[in-house]
Amino acid sequence: MNVLVIGNGGREHALAWKLKQSSRAERVFVAPGNAGTALDAENVPLATDEFAKLIKFAKQNSVGLTVIGPEAPLAAGIVDAFAAEKLKVFGPSKAAAQLEASKVFCKDLLRAADVPQADYRVFKDAESATRYILDRYPSEEQDVPLVIKANGLAAGKGVVVCRKRADAITAIERIAMQREFGDAGREMVIEERLDGHEASVLAITDGRTILSLPACQDHKPAYDGDQGPNTGGMGAYCPTPLVDEPMMRWIEERILVNTVHAMKRSRQPFRGVLYAGLMMTNQGPKVLEYNVRFGDPECQPLLMRLKSDLLDVLEATVDGRLDEIGQLEWDPRPAICVVMASEGYPGEYVKGRPIRGLEEAAALPNVKVFHAGTKLQADGQIVTDGGRVLGVTALGSTISAAKLQAYTAVRCVRWPGAWCRKDISDKALSYIK
Ligand code: AMP
Ligand code: GLY
Repeated sequence: MNVLVIGNGGREHALAWKLKQSSRAERVFVAPGNAGTALDAENVPLATDEFAKLIKFAKQNSVGLTVIGPEAPLAAGIVDAFAAEKLKVFGPSKAAAQLEASKVFCKDLLRAADVPQADYRVFKDAESATRYILDRYPSEEQDVPLVIKANGLAAGKGVVVCRKRADAITAIERIAMQREFGDAGREMVIEERLDGHEASVLAITDGRTILSLPACQDHKPAYDGDQGPNTGGMGAYCPTPLVDEPMMRWIEERILVNTVHAMKRSRQPFRGVLYAGLMMTNQGPKVLEYNVRFGDPECQPLLMRLKSDLLDVLEATVDGRLDEIGQLEWDPRPAICVVMASEGYPGEYVKGRPIRGLEEAAALPNVKVFHAGTKLQADGQIVTDGGRVLGVTALGSTISAAKLQAYTAVRCVRWPGAWCRKDISDKALSYIK
């Protein structure tokens, strides 16, 4: 079967690499892809929002399954567009993708389904939101334990975790008055600030059967020790000892099953990857957000460990027969992914820097270098082409061994201005009881 993966990040490279390993996979295409997918699969020069052209390509190239990587095309209805043409496509419908695309939709659904989350209120204008803050927090000095969120998709940037009243007022102005995130700021959620460590629990579901994947931990802040601005994720490891077996069962029962059932009851059945961003609080796990796709970079260590045939699993999901798959098989060894980024990221950065040492890194055992922001030039040279450039991923007998191997590979790779966090997975050691 021919397969088409839509997207151009590290997640899509990992998906294409894993799908290609299936005994049933023939050609694997990636649109638009990057230098890594050009080498491991075949790139198609079509953007993720060119639905009509992508559909035409899928038909002309006998694509038997299309897998959608990022959230934007899902929220824009790419799955509905493919399904209307009787093409098999992995991912949620536009209606179901609201779980990520609208924080208000998500919070209201979770409230109705009695899924643990932060208490919240919804505001439609800056004036009433500001009045709410000033009434509740009369002093400028006191702690303001709130989080302000733009309702819509804002590439992870529409969330402000507050400490002081001024933080909240500024956030409301940016979201609702200056419209920094455009229409995403037409509504706002103000919610209680939760304390704890964060975990990512992903599950594959066809709307009835739910297969949870081992828990991961992402590292969103740019710099070591969780300092600096938030990014798309500077590294991840899997499994995380933060979520043990009994905790995983609890998350499945109280969070994942209730959410999937609530989506079905509200006539927006969820099919695809359900990704719960969780805060592990003193009162147990609470949902911070849902994503409706594989996480990037969580996907990289997850797929490095997956032994089951991914094509079989994704196709069974689309066909609504995930119950036939049984349990997924995993490499018992932990995996970690270290993101190497361009100088300046998550702010402005330059592109086009030649990357050296990729072959050396690839030659190391138990290592795979997934590409994100890279481009293959006509002369064969691979150059930087984004903020997050590579996801250097390694397996090891322990988390520490996997870390050592990943950073050994990182040291092989160089370009001017390359940097990464040095402490990916260090938090894991503090969770081991
Ligand atoms: P979200 O896009 O909603 O996941 O938020 C992005 C990041 O903001 C999360 O990964 C958390 O680090 C932080 N965050 C979101 N909501 C809360 C909350 N209620 N309490 C504390 N931190 C939060
Ligand atoms: N790693 C966070 C995300 O994919 O949204």
